[in-house]
Amino acid sequence: MNQPVMGGVAPLNAPAYIKQQKLINWVAEIAALTKPDRIYWCDGSQEEYDRLCAEMVAAGTMKKLNQEKRPNSYLACSDPTDVARVEDRTFICSATREEAGPTNNWMVPAEMRATLHPLFDGCMTGRTMYVVPFSMGPLGSPIAHIGVELSDSPYVAVNMRTMTRMGKAVYDVLGADGDFVPCVHTVGAPLKAGQKDVAWPCNPTKYIVHYPETREIWSFGSGYGGNALLGKKCFALRIASNMGFQEAQQGGAGWLAEHMLILGVESPEGKKHYVAAAFPSACGKTNFAMLIPPGTFNGWKITTIGDDIAWIKPGADGKLYAINPEAGYFGVAPGTNEKTNYNCMASLRENTIFTNVALTDDGDVWWEGLTKQAPDHLIDWQGKDWTPASGTKAAHPNARFTVPATQNPVIDAAWDDPAGVPISAFIFGGRRSTTVPLVTEARNWVEGVYMAATMGSETTAAAAGQMGVVRRDPFAMLPFIGYNMSDYFQHWLNLGEKVAKIDGATLPKIFCVNWFRTDEQGHFVWPGFGDNMRVLKWMLERIEGEAGGIENIFGTTPRFGDLKWDGIPFSPEEFETITSIDKDAWREELKLHEELFTKLAYRMPEQLKAVKADLEKRLAR
Ligand code: OXD
Ligand code: MN
Repeated sequence: MNQPVMGGVAPLNAPAYIKQQKLINWVAEIAALTKPDRIYWCDGSQEEYDRLCAEMVAAGTMKKLNQEKRPNSYLACSDPTDVARVEDRTFICSATREEAGPTNNWMVPAEMRATLHPLFDGCMTGRTMYVVPFSMGPLGSPIAHIGVELSDSPYVAVNMRTMTRMGKAVYDVLGADGDFVPCVHTVGAPLKAGQKDVAWPCNPTKYIVHYPETREIWSFGSGYGGNALLGKKCFALRIASNMGFQEAQQGGAGWLAEHMLILGVESPEGKKHYVAAAFPSACGKTNFAMLIPPGTFNGWKITTIGDDIAWIKPGADGKLYAINPEAGYFGVAPGTNEKTNYNCMASLRENTIFTNVALTDDGDVWWEGLTKQAPDHLIDWQGKDWTPASGTKAAHPNARFTVPATQNPVIDAAWDDPAGVPISAFIFGGRRSTTVPLVTEARNWVEGVYMAATMGSETTAAAAGQMGVVRRDPFAMLPFIGYNMSDYFQHWLNLGEKVAKIDGATLPKIFCVNWFRTDEQGHFVWPGFGDNMRVLKWMLERIEGEAGGIENIFGTTPRFGDLKWDGIPFSPEEFETITSIDKDAWREELKLHEELFTKLAYRMPEQLKAVKADLEKRLAR
């Protein structure tokens, strides 16, 4: 078992506790290709985490923060060209172009393999290959799945420990013949003998590649976030969404992998519901998942199951059960503060890795929006002296924190429950300064799927590229769907139909929200954050059949009097600004829906075309 790999590169030294020969052979095969100097099998222990972090501090990749102010925490600053997900370099290489669909980059798998092979050949020379075993979801949960990432980045190894259930115990679940998703990652910067390393190695050429048929992930050239922590977007969304779809294709009910937070909400009377909410990247999912109800909402409690991804399976009782496949939060730092997200700030007090934020003179961290007034002096995310007069951002707009979920003071008691939690409502939210009202309840599952499918959103800093441009972002899944988007819509419709037939089934209600409408001066009108509780409360009362509302062209919306207003001076006129439906703007919006439908015409579900035709008729009245 512990033979050196072919070609006499690094000794394999697989630990005796690994019982799966297929896995060991695969590690040997990838080592033979990538030619690392050493292979290190991660066990997931605290000792290992501390040691790898100390090594990165010595190598200049991370700085240890002031131990009193931010115990056991680090700052890593990336290469300035490696700061966000690279959507234009992300590929779904299914057997045919149709299976990937028009919203994904695609290449014939064999052609992509031929492109990647020379890039991966010798790409880890001079480096250590870390073998990172992880479970997405509670170990052994029937909803969870296992992956193994081979990476030449110690930064990836330590972040994966926080973001997933990573370590030795995964091999027990895997056993001698369990399935795992093989993930290969390299920063793409081999070192020649004697060559000095840089603090953040990466490569201007980048490829983030998924092969859905063989459930493989290959990532080249980036060390950052979703490009490199392959359990997150690559596995838990792109590969997993495809797995859930395939299960239905093979005759099962199938399941869903969604870009959704999951929160628990409990009324003062002790009635508890779980809701899952999809928002595009960097639109406040972490804030919503941890919100603190306004002071006047005595006795209401919000608890977090997850802040970014939900895996959802139908149960035999006709309910949809969700788990958070992750074990940590990789959240956007800028804008986070004690007011916008107190619970998040409390989570970040220790054991946190910060990436691309600024360093204070006393060895702590700072980012735009953390305090009203910026410190007089900082070291910015690019390592340069910074003062408020610098005229640049001290932290990168997509700067992040990586923190264990268990540090969240409002973590839900069931967050690690292998059975998952039953979902009472889905919420879909775009970032739109105009047109889309504060909240609308879909009349039924099909119209809800239509709302989610036609969601538009202004782009943010989470992905490289232009910011603030409206693009269609169906289900907030545009960059994350691992198969044809039209098939994905159909999968949602079919799942709803199947579940509705189960005796006693209760399909979740579907709501669409927009916290981001602005006034004529461009200011947000809705206060957001904790005040989103007002909208959430209305939704729960709708679920319980207790709240009023008014039906309009698209569904049901609350009237001013249907929301609880105590504690904020919000006028009916302001409410009108964010809830009004401008028919002309909606006629223009429907033209954009038409563009989407044309783009996705191949296998676009007939039921959604019918909803659109109905809406057009209602708008014409
Ligand atoms: C994320 C993203 O990191 O959506 O969660 O980009
Ligand atoms: Mn996300």
